[in-house]
Amino acid sequence: MPEIIITKNLIHLRNAHISYIIGILKGGFAAHLYFGKRVEAFNPASILRRHGVKSPEEFSEQECALNHVPQEYPSYGLGDMREGALIVRAEDGTASCDLRLVSAEAEDGKYALPGLPASFRENAKTLRLKLRDELLGLEATLLYAIFEDCDIIARSAVFMNRGKQTLTLERAASLCLDLPDSRWDLVTLSGDWAREREIIRRRITPGEMSVSSLRGASSYVASPFTALARPETNEASGEVLAAALVYSGSFYAGVDVGSRDTARLMLGLNDRHFGWRLEPGESFTTPEAVLTWSDQGFDGMSAAFHRLCVEHIVRGKYAHAPRPILLNNWEATYFGFDEEKLLTIAKKAAEVGVELFVLDDGWFGQRDNDHSSLGDWVVDRKKLPNGLKSLSEKVHALGLKFGLWFEPEMISPDSDLYRAHPEYAMQIRGRTPIEGRWQLILDLSRTDVQEYVYNAVATILRENPIDYVKWDMNRNFTNVGSLELSPERMRELPHRYMLGLYSILERLIREFPDVLFESCASGGGRFDLGMLHYMPQTWCSDNTDALSRCRIQWSTSLVFPPFAMGSHVSAVPNHQSGRITPQQTRANVAMSGCFGFELDLNKLPEEEIEQVKAIITRVKSLRQTLLYGDFHRLLSPYEGHDTAWITVSPDKREAVLMLTRDLAQPNTDAPMLRLRGLDPALTYTVEETGETYGGDELMTSGLCIPLPWGDAASVSLTLRA
Ligand code: GLA
Repeated sequence: MPEIIITKNLIHLRNAHISYIIGILKGGFAAHLYFGKRVEAFNPASILRRHGVKSPEEFSEQECALNHVPQEYPSYGLGDMREGALIVRAEDGTASCDLRLVSAEAEDGKYALPGLPASFRENAKTLRLKLRDELLGLEATLLYAIFEDCDIIARSAVFMNRGKQTLTLERAASLCLDLPDSRWDLVTLSGDWAREREIIRRRITPGEMSVSSLRGASSYVASPFTALARPETNEASGEVLAAALVYSGSFYAGVDVGSRDTARLMLGLNDRHFGWRLEPGESFTTPEAVLTWSDQGFDGMSAAFHRLCVEHIVRGKYAHAPRPILLNNWEATYFGFDEEKLLTIAKKAAEVGVELFVLDDGWFGQRDNDHSSLGDWVVDRKKLPNGLKSLSEKVHALGLKFGLWFEPEMISPDSDLYRAHPEYAMQIRGRTPIEGRWQLILDLSRTDVQEYVYNAVATILRENPIDYVKWDMNRNFTNVGSLELSPERMRELPHRYMLGLYSILERLIREFPDVLFESCASGGGRFDLGMLHYMPQTWCSDNTDALSRCRIQWSTSLVFPPFAMGSHVSAVPNHQSGRITPQQTRANVAMSGCFGFELDLNKLPEEEIEQVKAIITRVKSLRQTLLYGDFHRLLSPYEGHDTAWITVSPDKREAVLMLTRDLAQPNTDAPMLRLRGLDPALTYTVEETGETYGGDELMTSGLCIPLPWGDAASVSLTLRA
């Protein structure tokens, strides 16, 4: 089990691999002393000297400017001139906060954050560091948890107003980490629709560097994740320190390099979408942040995040279970379908071995295009005269499960819901609302709207046999206003929206524990650890082009394991890129995730149908390894023409290797690939060629893999010990 050792001046959290050390300086200042590889003992003298402090006992904030002291939760208004974790405004209009230690307590198990998504499971220890500002009467409890089975420290902070005046939190970060040097590269994930999560790596320099979202969703433009990597760090080796938020709304994630070559990493709610009024007796809890450290390069970092996801984030019966191979009708029909057309598609899907048929957008209200009906969750009898129940039963009779698309957080101005309840939309009184995809966003801070959304979805799920829900969210926040919130609480709206959403989701997954939920936001526009806590898979991107997906899935895997990523084979030419790629290539890339199809199989020639059957049989037999094996990135699409990765079963006896080349390279030799994650002592047979090699040989000398002729060539091999 992990340990938390509390002595007079030091608090040491550690497991078998990592240590996190807090120093308590004279007067009760909580200083940050160390985070990294596990150490046995720690003498704070050196690190304090580095920051101009002689010893914990000799610290004085009067003579030694806080500007140079590494702190656990620095606040604005004292001597620290850097961006801090906390800004509290008092009734007199001033903002300064002086938090001093009250108590430090360790306990078994993992703290919980009621109402918020958070990591869980009892093989952890929790530290509660209680601090207090006497003048304001503000109590801050910094929460830390350390896990036994993955190198993650989880953090959050709880604020309680124990004073007599109203306080306003203008900033309350989830995590702040002060580092003694700035020789780091900042690695972030930025992109846009259909090209989500591109890896951006840059050297940090004095000042602030950050990514953020003001979209009301974690967004495809930036992810709530940052890594600091040494300039020499690569996939396989080198030091990397990374953090991610367990949150799905607007956020900030950045690093601030100080004047004396220090670096401060900070993640949390975005100030511009935040402000929280704390009346006497009220409390506020920040979203959770998770922090990891590895000296095994990005591979080590991802291993920690992947383990966190599977053991401590995802819940429910699908957490460790094989995910059904699905076929979604969206790109096959868009809005143009009726029952017969859907059943023709489903029948073919059943014949080839697909397990779940998903009816996407267009089944409700009068939704013949995306201009109307969001909010009217009543089946469209024009398209489905026999109703959803009958369709679902017919799909079940084909031997398939049945899934349904919803976009529950939205309201179309052209909807019965809007005509009856215009006040349900997020809006600013007197200002014409800005539509995105002809729709507005429901004000989920309101309890009546939460009830409406919950009941709309729950009614459909109660009345119809539905096995899967695709929960979509297709536009970002504008007109951030609520007709119900008071002016002094209006800044709370974006976070209250998320709390409302989380509460709806929590109720739904409790009432419908057998339903598999997949989260989506115009593809991967809300792919984060928060959503994953409610829904065990996320639609990775609307871009299903195999070559684009090599990049998208590669970068997504920095944080998320294969079982979290929905990835499908779609028709060619691809609807997003116009590119034509071989079916085998599309399948090889898609099978490193929750596999499925996004096309009408009736339109494929017979030879391709035979290929589809073989692919499905193979995916089913390798599914446990493909979804839950250890995933290692081998050749980066960011560095050349080839993408390669391998997934190895936990017992290391089975592995699936994928190599895809975007453009053919004439007159070159076949690539020699060094594998990773195998057992060096085992001998592996490559099933497709019958060759055998030692695990050590495959990881040192490598495997030469000839690729088929032409562009977008791909090979997927099965290795068995
Ligand atoms: C979004 C999703 C798609 C599809 C459409 C339906 O764009 O990402 O997969 O469900 O909505 O309108």
